[in-house]
Amino acid sequence: MARTADPSSHDQQLREAAARLGRRRFLTAASAAAAVAFTTNLPDARAAGADLAPGALTENPFTLGVASGDPLPDAVVLWTRLAPRPYEPGNGLPPAGAVRVEWEIAHDERFRRAVRRGTVRAHAEFNHTVHVEADGLEPDRVYWYRFRAGSWTSPVGRTRTTPARGRRVDEVRLGLVSCQAYEDGYFTAYRHLAQEDLDAVFHVGDYIYEYGIDAAGGDRGYTDRTLPAVFGHETATLEDYRLRYALYKTDPDLQAAHAAFPWYVTWDDHEVENNYAAGIPEKGQSPEAFVARRAAAYRAYWENMPLRMPRPEGTDLLLYRRFQYGRLAQFDLLDTRQYRSDQANGDGWQYPTPESADPARTLVGATQERWLLDGFRRSTAVWNVLPQQVVFSRRKNTTDERSRLSMDAWDGYPASRERILAGAERAGVENLVVLTGDVHVAYALDVKRDFDDPAARTVGVEFVGTSISSDGDGAEKPANWATLTAANPHLKFYNGLRGYTAVTLTAGHARADFRTVSHITTPGGTVATAASFVTEAGHPGLQQA
Ligand SMILES: [Fe+2]
Repeated sequence: MARTADPSSHDQQLREAAARLGRRRFLTAASAAAAVAFTTNLPDARAAGADLAPGALTENPFTLGVASGDPLPDAVVLWTRLAPRPYEPGNGLPPAGAVRVEWEIAHDERFRRAVRRGTVRAHAEFNHTVHVEADGLEPDRVYWYRFRAGSWTSPVGRTRTTPARGRRVDEVRLGLVSCQAYEDGYFTAYRHLAQEDLDAVFHVGDYIYEYGIDAAGGDRGYTDRTLPAVFGHETATLEDYRLRYALYKTDPDLQAAHAAFPWYVTWDDHEVENNYAAGIPEKGQSPEAFVARRAAAYRAYWENMPLRMPRPEGTDLLLYRRFQYGRLAQFDLLDTRQYRSDQANGDGWQYPTPESADPARTLVGATQERWLLDGFRRSTAVWNVLPQQVVFSRRKNTTDERSRLSMDAWDGYPASRERILAGAERAGVENLVVLTGDVHVAYALDVKRDFDDPAARTVGVEFVGTSISSDGDGAEKPANWATLTAANPHLKFYNGLRGYTAVTLTAGHARADFRTVSHITTPGGTVATAASFVTEAGHPGLQQA
């Protein structure tokens, strides 16, 4: 991924990136650029230095596993990060230069039938992360991949290309995961997910949490190890975020889930800070300081995810993107954080007001909205799938006529939701499937054309996946189970245990199997299917299977 940057053009890009934060008018481009340059401390790519001698790698650099992502019919992104000492700044490697890494992809797990191989340099500048585009592959096929550096070989990953464009496909099986607060418990759900037969996994945000983690790993309650003090404070700098990804990625269950399937990732808020909105922090940071923090967080996210997207230049990172799964499905992965209007009514659960209803407000930004509606119009897929972050459907928290709603979710941006539902209707989208995270519980919901009208048509379905670990063990029926179920007739299922969701699409139906884990604050939790729901193609509306 070496790219020799001309420093003057890099500064220009920073200025342009800062200028694109147009709504923050009081933030000057120069101050943002300076703040970002300071925080990310970008070294001059031209002074990258020499490669590390292969013999100098005296400790295993493959401590953070491998991953693949954003599969296409002929290509997939392969990822790893070299970190002989993952809990030390700089991964325990020299602060400049690069390490040569060989990669290999094959038809078989033993690499007897190699398909492609090559060499890349893992630069200190990118925290020794590797993003390889393995191309020239065949559609709809399983592959195996691994890396080598010095005398060390990485764990083996398994991945899969997507079917050829326009091809008839009988079935796709997808995992839906989100919200993995390390300090809230073990990633047992991933251990079970890795045993599933899936074609790909969607991660819809909160891959990391920013809060400080104590030496015992919070509720994991380690007695066999002590986490270093570098994790004890809230993440703010590029180094903090890089170290936080290293902590998460040393988890063996998370590594197993990455190694088992290609992932499509998108973020929510905690990859930067709880409930931030575009350039606006949750807490009272200066705009300059927050934009610099966000830039550091975005850069660390890009470095640590199997993304094909261009590396971030300056303060933004383009993350929304589209994939086709033959003729069966179109995946529109959304970014509802980077471009959103600030939460209305002071955020939290509030009564709707003219402020929250203001049609000028947006959850995805005008450009992403146009891109999405345009994609609906061009789509020929059976299923239009929207992997995204926050709950799309109406959620009243009382049975009263007038009820508070979550200002952070689509309920706080009703005009934005209406434009998307109207656009889907105009485009003739018949089979809308929204995939959601954020709330640390599982829901199955009918998406109504008008949530204010009980007689309104059902125009799609929403599967909300519970958290992997956030909020600890949870409960099958949370305290507000009866109220929420009574207040929202379109809510067909609600479960508050940890786990993941297996989503199956065929030409005839979409199905969600809600998998729950018995407990996560100690290892060894067992998995069960709490419930399964289906919706028929052409006749949206959930039925228990
Ligand atoms: Fe979360």
